[in-house]
Amino acid sequence: MRMYNSVRLTMRTLILVFLLAAAAAAQRPDTNYDESKVPRYTLPDPLKLTTGETVKDAKTWQAKRRPEIQRLFEDQMFGRAPGRPGKMSFELTSIEKNALGGKAIRKEVSINTAGKTFHLLLYLPAQAKGPVPVFLGLNFNGNHAVTNEPDVRLAMTWNRDGKNAPTAAIQAPAASRGSTGSRWPIEMILAKGYGLATIYYGDIEPDFNGGMKHGIRPSYFKSGQTEPAPDGWGAIGAWAWGLSRAMDYLETDKSVDARRVALMGHSRLGKTALWAGASDTRYAIVISNDSGEGGAAISRRIFGETVRNLNTSFPYWFCANYKQYSGREEAMPFDSHMLIALMAPRPVYVASAEEDQWADPKGEFLGAVAASPVYRLFGKKGIESDRMPGLHEPVGDAVGYHIRAGKHDVTDYDWEQYIKFADRHFGRR
Ligand code: GCU
Repeated sequence: MRMYNSVRLTMRTLILVFLLAAAAAAQRPDTNYDESKVPRYTLPDPLKLTTGETVKDAKTWQAKRRPEIQRLFEDQMFGRAPGRPGKMSFELTSIEKNALGGKAIRKEVSINTAGKTFHLLLYLPAQAKGPVPVFLGLNFNGNHAVTNEPDVRLAMTWNRDGKNAPTAAIQAPAASRGSTGSRWPIEMILAKGYGLATIYYGDIEPDFNGGMKHGIRPSYFKSGQTEPAPDGWGAIGAWAWGLSRAMDYLETDKSVDARRVALMGHSRLGKTALWAGASDTRYAIVISNDSGEGGAAISRRIFGETVRNLNTSFPYWFCANYKQYSGREEAMPFDSHMLIALMAPRPVYVASAEEDQWADPKGEFLGAVAASPVYRLFGKKGIESDRMPGLHEPVGDAVGYHIRAGKHDVTDYDWEQYIKFADRHFGRR
């Protein structure tokens, strides 16, 4: 009996220790989730030129202030990327005119450049009479994972979980077909008259520390170079560059209205969407879903993830110059509102999820709010109030925002708002 009791006690202790450890991991004790502990901060003024003059019109914004801000993000955060490659080819590797039970035309296109191939999967509404607007986004798990269709090529994917960095991509198992389908409601998008284009981000560069050597960046190194320069592109810069190559292709596809491409990205790929939208103005709309720190969230709030967290866990996402801001957010000559403002005058949408506190929903909202004065220069309305809206109450016009219930994810609710937003700005209502 005594022994039984002590075993029970040990079990209880073990369970308790386990629960405490799990809670600590979920909460990260060094992480601030207390609104009352958010420091006072002053945001850099997006409308003040480095000369101290105030930008009063759209022309000065475009000619002077926008390039200043773009350069700041390039030098200090995402790094410089090369331009459009001189050598690039597109190859239609498959076309299915009767995809999704007749609802879609489906294409697979290889974008070949610098010895790499980015595989683009494109769905177009079958009933379309002319070129259609398209949602474009990178995916996390391979093109075959966004759809159940059994004849889509199985991606060569990188495993980014384990401690041991993989040395080669391996073909994804057939069982992973459609595994992230809930994030890509293709039929809903098609039914509203849009196409969907996507590329697996690992085609451009695998997402783990040391993955750079398997990606596109080394193709642009000078001979003998092994690391990017302090202001050289990081992985996010590389993924954004890959998106521009997708855009290069879309511009050649007659069934696509390339002037109406809405770029969407989730989480680290939401950060990527914002940087891609800042670097390439061909996207007509940019959407950041739960992009958090390094994306739409104001870094100076020190709520949830911080710059130090990013630089520690994902040093390869950004340029080396960004490291100097770990623990020094108040010294940054920029913040997320200025990144969002680089989309102006193009419509931009920021979305949060209530349980995604690590991404700081309020910080994402305030980033969108503080970008809005730039839209006013163009006679456009952003978000007019800095009062955080309730759940499922989208706000704003040229700058849109919503927060929904639930976790860090992309849901049908998010897509319904993105489609409505695109409809409104593409004059499709
Ligand atoms: C981590 C990371 C975030 C990122 C997220 C994601 O949580 O800390 O910055 O946005 O992964 O990409 O899912």
